[in-house]
Amino acid sequence: MSDALIPTDNSTGTIALYGAPPADVVDLPAGATQFSPLKPGASVLEQQAEASLDELVMLAPPGTLERRYVIALSLRALKVGAPFTILAPKDRGGTRLRKELQAFGCDFEETSRAHHRICAGLRPQSLTGIDEALAEGGPRLIDELGLWSQPGVFSWDRLDPGTAMLIERLPALRGRGADFGCGIGILAHAVLTSPQVTEIHLVDIDRRAIECAQHNVADPRARFLWADIRSAELADLDFVVMNAPFHDAGAEDKKLAQTFVQRAARCLSKGGVCFMVANRHLPYEAILTPTFKRTELVIETGGYKIYEAHT
Ligand SMILES: C[S@@+](CC[C@H](N)C(=O)[O-])C[C@H]1O[C@@H](n2cnc3c(N)ncnc32)[C@H](O)[C@@H]1O
Repeated sequence: MSDALIPTDNSTGTIALYGAPPADVVDLPAGATQFSPLKPGASVLEQQAEASLDELVMLAPPGTLERRYVIALSLRALKVGAPFTILAPKDRGGTRLRKELQAFGCDFEETSRAHHRICAGLRPQSLTGIDEALAEGGPRLIDELGLWSQPGVFSWDRLDPGTAMLIERLPALRGRGADFGCGIGILAHAVLTSPQVTEIHLVDIDRRAIECAQHNVADPRARFLWADIRSAELADLDFVVMNAPFHDAGAEDKKLAQTFVQRAARCLSKGGVCFMVANRHLPYEAILTPTFKRTELVIETGGYKIYEAHT
């Protein structure tokens, strides 16, 4: 699976792969084009012409609205009669696949393997319920937040308490900085209230988050980057803000959060500062202390910790 940052040409591949289905559960098609919004550089299902794909293998996402949305997009993009294999772990949407695919008018066979449900069939002549699924899972303005968001992105329809806490504590920042794992841009939006900020890079691995952030942070000082922070090239920053993820592809991954800390230190200039909020149960001190010159625990409350770390 390639994480290349160069978008794949849709015209060269008509076999679609969505996500990273386990190779011991289904056969992965050779030469397939990746369509997951969590793979920087992947092709975009929303832009794929109707009835243009020859085959689809999809590890369906766990959220119901998100899953129905991407299945609807995929079925619309498949040629009539083209084969699809859609699977999900049983406890992460797999047991719902059958009903969902039936509601779209699909005939298929359902099997089980290694805790996954696997539905394999052919794209029918006529589909039902596609427009509704697209409307329910698509990007929209969330009135309560006054922000654009989409099912599937982090905390898509509510302000995360950790993010809210960090915003409350952020001082007026200055210079060039970055929002690592920016989501829909809430932290960057707050940072940009400081007129002394000259530039902020919003980086996220989720294309949908970046697209929402582009709506939400309409400021000429903002730069947007659909990228994995582990390979993003940023340097000479004065500040980094982050509500670091601790899940990678759905599984808790402490190493990912630690990598965010290390990347922040590496991207900052001498005298730079990193403000981060973290879940209390994660062992951030162990990585912050040796990585930064000085680390201060600003506050610990309500299950969260805020750190200020200096290079
Ligand atoms: C806890 S959320 C914070 C989102 C936003 N900053 C906020 O406070 O609402 C972490 C974000 O990191 C992103 N993310 C996860 N892994 C990433 C990676 N390897 N590189 C860049 N972003 C990543 C997720 O897509 C998610 O939007």
